[in-house]
Amino acid sequence: MQLELDQIQGTVLRDRPMPYVGAYLLYQIDDADQARRMLRRLIPYVTTAADWQGPDAGAWLNIVFTHPGLRALGLPRDILDGFPREFREPMRTRKEFLGDLGDSDPGNWDLPGRGRFDVGLLLMAPDQAAFDAKLAIGHGAQADLDGITRVDRLDIRTPENLREHFGFVDGISRPFIEGQGGEPKPGQAVTKAGEFLLGYVNELGHVATGPGPQALWRNGTYLSIRKLHQNVAMFRRFLKDHAQDADGEELLAAKMVGRWRSGCPLALSPDKDTPRDPARLNDFAYRDDDPDGRKTPPGSHIRRVNPRDALTDTIVDARLHRLLRRGAAYGPMLPEGVLDDDGVPRGAVLAFVNADPGRQFEFVQSQWINDGNFISAGTDQDPIAGSHVTDSDFAYPARPVRRRLRGLPAFVVTRGGEHVFLPGISGLRHLAGATAG
Ligand code: HEM
Repeated sequence: MQLELDQIQGTVLRDRPMPYVGAYLLYQIDDADQARRMLRRLIPYVTTAADWQGPDAGAWLNIVFTHPGLRALGLPRDILDGFPREFREPMRTRKEFLGDLGDSDPGNWDLPGRGRFDVGLLLMAPDQAAFDAKLAIGHGAQADLDGITRVDRLDIRTPENLREHFGFVDGISRPFIEGQGGEPKPGQAVTKAGEFLLGYVNELGHVATGPGPQALWRNGTYLSIRKLHQNVAMFRRFLKDHAQDADGEELLAAKMVGRWRSGCPLALSPDKDTPRDPARLNDFAYRDDDPDGRKTPPGSHIRRVNPRDALTDTIVDARLHRLLRRGAAYGPMLPEGVLDDDGVPRGAVLAFVNADPGRQFEFVQSQWINDGNFISAGTDQDPIAGSHVTDSDFAYPARPVRRRLRGLPAFVVTRGGEHVFLPGISGLRHLAGATAG
């Protein structure tokens, strides 16, 4: 079975360029007719998963909608009510469940800055010129429409060291979607398309669907967007305070993530960071090779958010909780070696592609990141991404004795979040025309 690539917005299937420059442009809709006009203008420029070669290679313009945005566009009530609950409810109202407490409380969120987030343009490009060209298309489609107001712009850009802000190479592991074309890399799990796209069979053996006419939802999906501020100085100081020397800091950082900063997995190189063939950086599993987590701790970030085969003997089926990450960094890099916070906003804006935000993103966030029960670790949370508002330790097997670091601070705090709908091309056309009154 092949995916309908020319019907799927590009960000679902295509990796971001490296380096990259991009932006999230968020708008409020006060006039449905004008919003539909804006959509009709933009649709010819929307990048699909098919048009990826040629002069525009690596650059994209994609369009997403919040639930209030679909309402503002005039979708009828019965269709609006048929969307999943997680998408219908503002993410800020789900703060207890998602662990957005303490400094992460929605009262401190700054995305969107002002007004209501109804429709968003996701722009990504390999260089400034290509980005400016996409930006001009976005501006051009909206500039003369006073019933559409831009409520925020969040710029994203590769930090100078081409890593995420804590200093790790990112974007290595991702599922291979059945029918996407090409071959999976060694160790890359093949996942049914219906986990990431509506209109296809999922891992439960059902066709993932949406409400209303098929044209609206087929080849569409949801992005669970999170704007996460990273306390880089706090992270560096924590490593320094809990290690004896620079090598010890690197080992501790690797134990927390499950990979060395270079991207090399502990599973393949547990004692020192060894250069590896980039194509083989995912060629590992946990169950037989490392059941106790002596190499990759069960509590480390990557083993929590994707336990691979480690939970095979439990009732949890890890295949039902896969996420396809589309992340990018915002804010300037904190210069190497600086241990004091400079107060500058920096972090990651992560967009998790998932066809069922409750079973996928929200499950991972609430059960695997902010709880330790599934690995018999009590209330311990993910050492990197956990909310750490209650006492959260990080423990891992070590010689001569198991090591336990107590009371982790919140290295990452939420600064915004929403589930958005990313329609297929037929869905965009439906929203742009069929509902016009
Ligand atoms: C600012 C916060 C975060 C940072 C700095 C971060 C960092 C990383 C790093 C360095 C990796 C390893 C590189 C790779 O495998 O591509 C990774 C993997 C991953 N992260 Fe995060 N992450 C963050 C938040 C999250 C959140 C909130 C989730 C899910 C709700 C998540 C889900 C994943 C997944 C699914 C993987 C791939 C694991 C695998 O397949 O082995 N991350 N992250």
